[in-house]
Amino acid sequence: MRLEQVLFSQGFGTRHECRGMILQSRVSIDGSVYQDPDEDVCVEGLVFTVDGKPWPYFEKAIVALHKPSGYECSQKPIHHPSVMTLLPAPLRVRGIQPVGRLDEDTTGLLILTDDGALQHRLIHPKKHVAKVYEVTCRHPITETMVEKLLAGVMLDGEKKPVKADSIEVKTESVLWMTITQGKYHQVKRMIAAVSNRVDKLHRIGVGKYALPDDLPVGEWRFINVSELV
Ligand code: URA
Repeated sequence: MRLEQVLFSQGFGTRHECRGMILQSRVSIDGSVYQDPDEDVCVEGLVFTVDGKPWPYFEKAIVALHKPSGYECSQKPIHHPSVMTLLPAPLRVRGIQPVGRLDEDTTGLLILTDDGALQHRLIHPKKHVAKVYEVTCRHPITETMVEKLLAGVMLDGEKKPVKADSIEVKTESVLWMTITQGKYHQVKRMIAAVSNRVDKLHRIGVGKYALPDDLPVGEWRFINVSELV
């Protein structure tokens, strides 16, 4: 692929801007500056450097973000900054989007991608992709509460009961709940339906991917599809 096209595909600006960056000697590969925008480079396993910062080439990008509280997942946030402001410009320019949404006060794992087919696969209810939440409840967790969540609870506007796929009780007030749907405020509404209340909500897993311990709050990293589904 031509080097100019590589930069363009990875979100570094218009073709004209990408060409300019190369001509200004801002782009290197394997320690050598590349100054020809038309040079053909092999994209397989390519890591190029722009202004000293390395970027792996991905035809489609998948990002795991450790979402802090106080950020909205919406493209047009109203009260808080968008999670997109936590990502560098090339990722925004290439059009990565959050997969589903976390509430402004929910923390933890948010996946973002510019792969439309993967978006669909991760959010479609029939694909049953697991989302695991650590839920801190206001009141003590009872056995009855867990039984009801596993059996299914009625939520306003839903025709059928909504179930937790699995629940692990961790402490008197903390449980890990796995769900495979992604309904609006689903966890908070399910917990409210069993007469308790969510004090803190933190997502720890999506599909096969667990939020890594070494990914600090507000930071992100590229991941592969095989780590996720
Ligand atoms: N369920 C909720 O209630 N909120 C979230 O952010 C995610 C799932």
